[in-house]
Amino acid sequence: NKRVKIKHLLESGKVGEQIILMGWVRTKRSNKNVSFIALNDGSSINNYQIVADPAIISEDILKSITTGACIKVTGEVVASQGTGQSTEVQASGIAILGEADPEKFPLQPKKHSLEFLREIAHLRMRTNTFGAVFRVRHALAFAVHQYFNDKGFFYIHTPIITASDAEGAGETFKVTTLDIKNPPLTDKGTIDYKQDFFERETNLTVSGQLEGELAAMALSEIYTFGPTFRAENSNTTRHLAEFWMIEPEMAFYDAEDNQDLAEDFLQKVISYALSNCADDLEFLDKRAAEEDATKKAEQRSEMGLLQRLKFVTENRFERITYTQAIDILKNSTPNKKKKFNYLIDNWGVDLQSEHERYLVEKHFKKPVILTDYPKEIKSFYMRQNDDGKTVAAMDILFPGIGEIVGGSQREERLENLNQRMDELNIPKDEMWWYLETRKFGTAPHAGFGLGFERLVQFVTGMGNIRDVIAFPRTPGNAEF
Ligand code: 4AD
Ligand code: MG
Repeated sequence: NKRVKIKHLLESGKVGEQIILMGWVRTKRSNKNVSFIALNDGSSINNYQIVADPAIISEDILKSITTGACIKVTGEVVASQGTGQSTEVQASGIAILGEADPEKFPLQPKKHSLEFLREIAHLRMRTNTFGAVFRVRHALAFAVHQYFNDKGFFYIHTPIITASDAEGAGETFKVTTLDIKNPPLTDKGTIDYKQDFFERETNLTVSGQLEGELAAMALSEIYTFGPTFRAENSNTTRHLAEFWMIEPEMAFYDAEDNQDLAEDFLQKVISYALSNCADDLEFLDKRAAEEDATKKAEQRSEMGLLQRLKFVTENRFERITYTQAIDILKNSTPNKKKKFNYLIDNWGVDLQSEHERYLVEKHFKKPVILTDYPKEIKSFYMRQNDDGKTVAAMDILFPGIGEIVGGSQREERLENLNQRMDELNIPKDEMWWYLETRKFGTAPHAGFGLGFERLVQFVTGMGNIRDVIAFPRTPGNAEF
């Protein structure tokens, strides 16, 4: 197979080279003497031009070269007569690998709405927008592994099926092999999970953190990067039922070390995309600008996509405590009609996304690391601060996204952890293995979770999280 990729031809194609190209036809323009075919093989956002001479390529073949068809082209790289590109291919032979009936193929060359494309998720990767999104997504995943590998972190694979609910939010998907219409029952009439595959109740993981902590207590610095599942019924542009999370966990890190790592990590992976996905990001930048232009003036972004990405990589994030954030919100008047000051005397409430957006987009105009939340609104494993009211938590808020990272220093003191689990009625006997890490050689440690799709959304400028994962899982949607 001597096939070359279009990316290679665009970057280093040499006039006179004999090549084989395979790809999908985007458009064809013909006149009596010649046909020009724009071919794309997914290696680049840019198409490559094929010149087909009707004296060489039969009329039957030319007729089948329609938008969406897959073809194999044999030919010679020649200097291009046109202005769009420096070289093109003069075809000596074209074979049709797969036709695409123009009457039926839905991706004809015109603008399609993202809503329509979501309904044809099996084909939408063949568009410029989705090709760009998935190449950028790949680059970011690669950058994540490269970043941690360079720092000596080890990639741990944590289980997908577990018996615990790490976040304690009760939003798990059950896993069972029992006949759910007619399950075996105990004497008390409850479902007898002893007869289930794992001989206990199990669910899909909501986070790899707890197992990650066990690994950090042996290998010092680790990270996970895997699918996580949440049965929260949130139909928003930021929530998926199945999403990918990156969770580093580090022994001997305190809360500040954790913040430093998270900030550096985010800046480095975004920089990687900026320097390795220039063509795709330029395309997405234009796309975002066009979309922005259709919005009302007050909803438009202050910066373009590329400008925003550069800004985030070049400026320190703001770091404030929850208590400081509440003070800012109390004194704010984001617009004339609406005040957020209902938070007065309400220290302890969780922030709504409108509060987060106000802090990031209006007040600081940069990413914000919010720390030291009230313990009541955070998970059991977070380290209690000396004030007895707050925990060493951090959330990182990004413009246009809101929360992108959640993390904390962990409660490494057995007594405090036991007490907190009792207060929250978390069954300690089921978590005996977690508690043992505090019994045997416990150590200060910290970690965080980055929602990968929210990062991809930020970098690609896509407004809906359903458009940055190939086959999104949301309430009522698991077709493809
Ligand atoms: O804040 P969360 O729930 O934190 C954890 O799961 C911790 N165990 C992480 C840790 O400390 N190791 O989730 C972490 C991040 C969020 O900040 C958000 O970016 C993303 O995961 N996230 C979601 N992304 C898409 N869809 C959802 N339903 C998400 N829920 C959380
Ligand atoms: Mg969170």
